[in-house]
Amino acid sequence: SASRATVSIATKMSKASFSSTTAAASKKVAVLGAAGGIGQPLSMLLKLSPHVGELSCYDIVGTPGVAADLSHIPTPAKISGDLPAAGSWPPKGNDGIARALTGCDVVVIPAGVPRKPGMTRDDLFNTNAGIVKGLVESCAEHCPGAILAIISNPVNSTVPIAAEVLKARGVYDPKKLCGVTTLDVCRANTFVGEALGKDPREVDVTVIGGHAGITILPLFSQVPGFMDAVDEKKMDALTVRTQFGGDEVVKAKAGAGSATLSMAYAGYVFTENVLRAMDGEEITQCAFVESTLTDAPYFASPCKFGPDGVTEVLGYGELTAYEKGWFDKMLPDLKKQIQKGIDFANN
Ligand code: NAD
Ligand code: LMR
Repeated sequence: SASRATVSIATKMSKASFSSTTAAASKKVAVLGAAGGIGQPLSMLLKLSPHVGELSCYDIVGTPGVAADLSHIPTPAKISGDLPAAGSWPPKGNDGIARALTGCDVVVIPAGVPRKPGMTRDDLFNTNAGIVKGLVESCAEHCPGAILAIISNPVNSTVPIAAEVLKARGVYDPKKLCGVTTLDVCRANTFVGEALGKDPREVDVTVIGGHAGITILPLFSQVPGFMDAVDEKKMDALTVRTQFGGDEVVKAKAGAGSATLSMAYAGYVFTENVLRAMDGEEITQCAFVESTLTDAPYFASPCKFGPDGVTEVLGYGELTAYEKGWFDKMLPDLKKQIQKGIDFANN
């Protein structure tokens, strides 16, 4: 029957599945920016999650409709949709973002403008920095213990902004703030799967650094069998394609935005893994977090997750000379983008 169906979207990195029978649907999750290109399909996937008991859809437009629509899907998650001022679903009176955030275990933030062709993610800074700052201030007030998953670009700057906001409110916990870089891992897995003729769900590439252009560094040398199958020219092409995968989608959408569907999938995988770890499973996945691995104060690398978020920031192993070349090029850019976020939040 439909209610028993288990639609597996398993990847080696996630094993996430839409099973209605395996887990307790006990967690409250909010999506901020839930009416957007990422927000809507991400909210739909989270409505299917076996871990989600309550899903709050928050945006400045459209969430009563998104919530009413999702509420007809027969899964346990209770749905609400709120706007900053009047208007909500169910139509019970609207406390705006307070209702959306109160009691949240995880808050996923894809609010903000996307790129158009010719723009860098940093070109989004002027608009999105303020949006993220405001939303994280609300999180600090209404759900100070929640794990925050930041999708809004530029991630290399919006995560440090979020950290500074939380520090100023006295509620910063580095274990509970992550930039979502899972789409880079998804892309790397897909491209390696194609190159090696393998099922991409059997591939798990470690991608380190940040989430913009050359700050994204896939460590293909660590993929079993990769170095034997692929020459340096092909490896270079796959590295650059992973670094600029976002641009490939922005160009193809020709002004209509950036990746939304693959990002919704990636955001779902990330969140589902965080929820599984909260329920006691041992999970390792890449995330952009506060880090002492390099000179950059935030860095994406494999992280262990537990009941309270990141329990250990893991190392990324040996780099080949090729990877070290990119690593050295990346660090100054990454540090600059991080500092830009810190300065914005403190001025
Ligand atoms: P979109 O324009 O379709 O949706 C954004 C939504 O945010 C809109 O519904 C808008 O109303 C809402 N919003 C704006 N200000 C808000 C506020 N103050 N409070 C609540 N909601 C607000 O854009 P999209 O395609 O969904 O992309 C969203 C963001 O995600 C962009 O910044 C994009 O660059 C980023 N992104 C990141 C990754 C990643 O890998 N981390 C991948 C893809 C996109
Ligand atoms: C992506 O990697 O697809 C996102 O960061 C969106 C973008 O602007 O490329």
